Amino acid sequence: MDRKLGGKVALVTGGASGIGRATAIAFAHTGAAVVVADADAAGGRETVEFIETHCDARAMFVQVDVTDADSVKTMVRSAVDSFGRIDMAFNNAGVPDRAASLHVSTQENWDRVMSVNLEGVWHCMKAELDHMLVAGKGAIVNNSSRSGLVGVPSDGVYGAAKHGVIGLTKAAAIEFAARGIRINAVCPGLVETALTRARFGDELSARAATANPLGRLAQPEEIANAVVWLCSDAASFVVGVALPVDGGATAR
Ligand SMILES: NC(=O)c1ccc[n+]([C@@H]2O[C@H](COP(=O)([O-])OP(=O)(O)OC[C@H]3O[C@@H](n4cnc5c(N)ncnc54)[C@H](O)[C@@H]3O)[C@@H](O)[C@H]2O)c1
Repeated sequence: MDRKLGGKVALVTGGASGIGRATAIAFAHTGAAVVVADADAAGGRETVEFIETHCDARAMFVQVDVTDADSVKTMVRSAVDSFGRIDMAFNNAGVPDRAASLHVSTQENWDRVMSVNLEGVWHCMKAELDHMLVAGKGAIVNNSSRSGLVGVPSDGVYGAAKHGVIGLTKAAAIEFAARGIRINAVCPGLVETALTRARFGDELSARAATANPLGRLAQPEEIANAVVWLCSDAASFVVGVALPVDGGATAR
């Protein structure tokens, strides 16, 4: 395993499950110390135990609610207190849209999806930037979605939040590039996780067959590899992109 991120510290929100868990493990495999942050303490601690047992890397769990600015500030402070700094952050915590269709979408659905998927990313970027601007370097990747790039029926509120994530990413990327901080987004297609199982249930495998030219779901590790690359020096000239990792879904 290439330990190219040895000596660095990575923060992953939503690290208890799915794409976040796979990315926390991928960072650890490349030598980084990992801060696993999530609302789900049991899942987050399981990710930390997995890393300590299988990845020869340091890891810690911090419980966070990304919708709460104070909780996010405490997350960043705990990470810096324990591991000295944050070099890389993956703002990934998210929830699915609950609506079958936009016109029956409720206020509760709007508030929940926007507060976790968009405002949560904003809170995290603010707290991470406060730290990285003092350090004069850092890399941030925000998790958007294919729904952040194109319109997806029955995903209107989710799609609005994910388009917003790309807006935040591009504006901040331009603002902070000259101060040593690279900011990008990934836009996964359909990935096999708890979120997609909750959103699509029994329809998931039928959707996977037509969702992209590969005709299958992504595994979380396939998104994790792109995030680790975007955070590494191999992507040193990559700034402000919204990178589709979607099996070609948005190419057609
Ligand atoms: N699975 C997909 O097909 C897919 C596709 C595109 C984008 N995404 C995005 O990827 C991200 C991760 O999704 P996933 O599929 O791995 O889902 P998941 O449900 O497996 O993981 C999401 C994690 O976020 C955590 N979380 C939710 N609300 C939180 C909060 N308020 N504070 C802290 N943690 C919170 C959950 O506890 C969970 O561990 C989300 O932003 C999602 O929108 C997923």
